Amino acid sequence: MIGPWVEKYRPQSLDDIVGQTQIINRLEKYVNEESMPNLMFTGPAGVGKTTTALSLAKAVLGDYWKQNFLELNASDARGIDTVRNNIKNFCRLKPVGAPFRIIFLDEVDNMTKDAQHALRREMEMYTKTASFILSCNYSSKIIDPIQSRCAIFRFAPLKGEDINKRLEYIASSEGFEFDEEAIKTIVYFAEGDMRKSVNMLQSAASEGEVISENAVYDVVSKARPEDINNLVTKALTGDFMGARNILRETMVLHGTSGEDMINQIYQEVSRRVMDDKMEGKVYMDLIEGIADTDFRIREGANPRIQLEALLAKFL
Ligand SMILES: Nc1ncnc2c1ncn2[C@@H]1O[C@H](COP(=O)(O)OP(=O)(O)O)[C@@H](O)[C@H]1O
Ligand SMILES: [Mg+2]
Repeated sequence: MIGPWVEKYRPQSLDDIVGQTQIINRLEKYVNEESMPNLMFTGPAGVGKTTTALSLAKAVLGDYWKQNFLELNASDARGIDTVRNNIKNFCRLKPVGAPFRIIFLDEVDNMTKDAQHALRREMEMYTKTASFILSCNYSSKIIDPIQSRCAIFRFAPLKGEDINKRLEYIASSEGFEFDEEAIKTIVYFAEGDMRKSVNMLQSAASEGEVISENAVYDVVSKARPEDINNLVTKALTGDFMGARNILRETMVLHGTSGEDMINQIYQEVSRRVMDDKMEGKVYMDLIEGIADTDFRIREGANPRIQLEALLAKFL
């Protein structure tokens, strides 16, 4: 296993990008017409913004894409002067072997307003020779004069089934067997973020030959739903020590945080009352304790002591 799978399985062309079909269709028109306006890609992390920008540049610029493509990462120094100088130096030269040049600025929402205004002036200056692709998480953090100069593409979190398929493909390509439940669990916790999903898959794979649900829970450090179920049952039926053992095991061996524990207990209790497995009166008593515990943990109290006190209240 060499290097991170997120890089190894980064799509190299527009065709390989999972989901985002409407966006890809719109972008392919630019490839066919050999021209494109300034673009802005917005959306949450890990859904393909950077990957799409690179693939698009390759498709539009063809064999000469490297000479005609400038990428300015968020990690590069990006004060006003650096932006200006980099862009000026790059745009001074005529495009070679391609109709125009592309400048890609990743994570523009991290740039100061002043730097954004400088960027906007450069965008105006070089409209004839260069197109800009900007990416950001929130378009609201970008100044209006830049937004109004760009065609905006809103990337959505990826669909569970799309991530599922991709993870199965990667696991098989790497020669791993996997439990379907393991993949489903990753998809559930990744919330539409492909980067997170692939990273979780790789971490879970490093635990053994088969990617199992247990390995996934170890990686995400959330409690297994059946453990929480047992814990609540034991506490409600008077087995305090049994419940306390599950609590300790989950938090110590598994590394589940106090916040995650209290959320998962809340979810379990809510589920029971909705399924008519718990009386409304009991639920109302418990939720008060859960709310208190949640508050105290957030305020910085010792989570294990608070959670044990909560279990005592369940009795
Ligand atoms: N739509 C997608 N299809 C396939 N892989 C993806 C997709 N989105 C993200 N990935 C995976 O996650 C990694 C990070 O994606 P990236 O394009 O940098 O996300 P963003 O810029 O939206 O945060 C990629 O290298 C790739 O492995
Ligand atoms: Mg990115």
